[in-house]
Amino acid sequence: MADQLIIFDTTLRDGEQSPGASMTKDEKLRIARQLERLKVDVIEAGFAASSNGDFEAVQLIAGAIRDSTICCLSRANDRDISRAAEALKGANRGRIHTFIATSALHMEKKLRMSAEQVLEQARLSVRFARNLCADVEFSPEDGYRSDVDFLCRVIEAAIAEGATTINVPDTVGYAVPELYGNFIKTLRERVPNSDKAVWSVHCHNDLGMAVANSLAGVKIGGARQVECTINGLGERAGNCSLEEIVMAVKTRRDYFGLDLNIDTKQILAASRMVSQTTGFVVQPNKAVVGANAFAHASGIHQDGVLKARDTYEIMRAEDVGWSANKIVLGKLSGRNAFKQRLQDLGISLESEADINSAFARFKELADRKSEIFDEDILALVSDESVMHEKEQFGFVSLSQHSETGERPHATVVFTAQGREVRGESDGNGPVDASLKAIESHVRSGAEMVLYSVNAISGSTESQGEVTVRLQNSGRVVNGVGADPDIVVASAKAYLNALNKLQSKADRVAAQG
Ligand code: KIV
Ligand code: ZN
Repeated sequence: MADQLIIFDTTLRDGEQSPGASMTKDEKLRIARQLERLKVDVIEAGFAASSNGDFEAVQLIAGAIRDSTICCLSRANDRDISRAAEALKGANRGRIHTFIATSALHMEKKLRMSAEQVLEQARLSVRFARNLCADVEFSPEDGYRSDVDFLCRVIEAAIAEGATTINVPDTVGYAVPELYGNFIKTLRERVPNSDKAVWSVHCHNDLGMAVANSLAGVKIGGARQVECTINGLGERAGNCSLEEIVMAVKTRRDYFGLDLNIDTKQILAASRMVSQTTGFVVQPNKAVVGANAFAHASGIHQDGVLKARDTYEIMRAEDVGWSANKIVLGKLSGRNAFKQRLQDLGISLESEADINSAFARFKELADRKSEIFDEDILALVSDESVMHEKEQFGFVSLSQHSETGERPHATVVFTAQGREVRGESDGNGPVDASLKAIESHVRSGAEMVLYSVNAISGSTESQGEVTVRLQNSGRVVNGVGADPDIVVASAKAYLNALNKLQSKADRVAAQG
């Protein structure tokens, strides 16, 4: 029987540390539900001690998710660990993940602790965590740049105190595959009690090698857990990408010889959900989930694929959730067909009222757009869930006038705390005029640090998906909006970002 590879998803913790990727509790819960549908083994839901918002998010997810283990990060101190244990109380299966830095650089400059103090702190923390939870993961932060003799002592102590998983982070993305794989192998060979724990890899993507390093940690090092995020989300260049790891291990089962629990058909829905929630757009040529990942543009390739699919395809698009027939519905489609399509896409709306409201919006869209694609439905449902949150600002309508040689003018009607208001402005272009019209009323003073437009399904008929990143008083948020009219999509994205900025929810990102 083949070994099992444990997939540990940290989109909601390490992924969320990316500037602008912070999510509300409800957004996190929605993503956690999708991760459960994806059959992720472990979901790292947050860092409870970092903020009340994170504590509540972990608590909410722990209470709602039954099938995946819910993990909470904590620094190696009693207060953090107690907060994690408390947040995990409602979990079916909970895990405390405690970490402390072990590289000379981090110990001296960041922690200002001696190696012996760090060793003792690691020992005491794992002991404390084990008294509160049977499943404890220990990470020596910046492990890959740590002295190997010292690291062996720390890991041995952590396992002796009851750590059930040992995770070896390449915190700064410095590793290269062969060296990282051998590093894990050496640790496993030299730590006397190494067989008492599951070994895990956690790689950052600063040199673009997070997936390759993780695979080497598995193949050469013998690790049996990979820590990763949807779309490779994460600070700087991100984390190891879940979809790439999963499809590499599955497609090259001949080489890796490992089994996975993952339901790969849920990958695309997870990718879309994370990108629409955070506003981090997926590049078209991204492996597995990029819009071009299965598109064959050259004549020779198209000809080959038509004759025999495996001439140029190593995976089937359907297996990761791309549907073979992408035109799904039109304005004559009924509620049942819509409901069925939601199910096929792995979307479960909470109540009949939610389905009715999404269906009404679908009909509205179908009146304006003749063919509705899967991507449209995913955008619509994501917009729908955004609208459910208690928002301060909501889009109502927009009109704008632009003509060659004239300065465009826009009027935007929107709700502000339940009251309908109207803003007017001119601007350099219709989008600029519309956002200035909103700002003329809101006066947020926020600085726009990113604006991007993406065609959801690839033609001028498709919906535009706009991401707006705003920065104000040290906080960075992303807003997203979708509409066949990109000026309207821009206004929706701007209002969505303002809602996030105004939200009182505590969104201090976890540090790790
Ligand atoms: O990258 C890192 O070192 C981490 C640890 C907290 C696991 O995210
Ligand atoms: Zn990390």
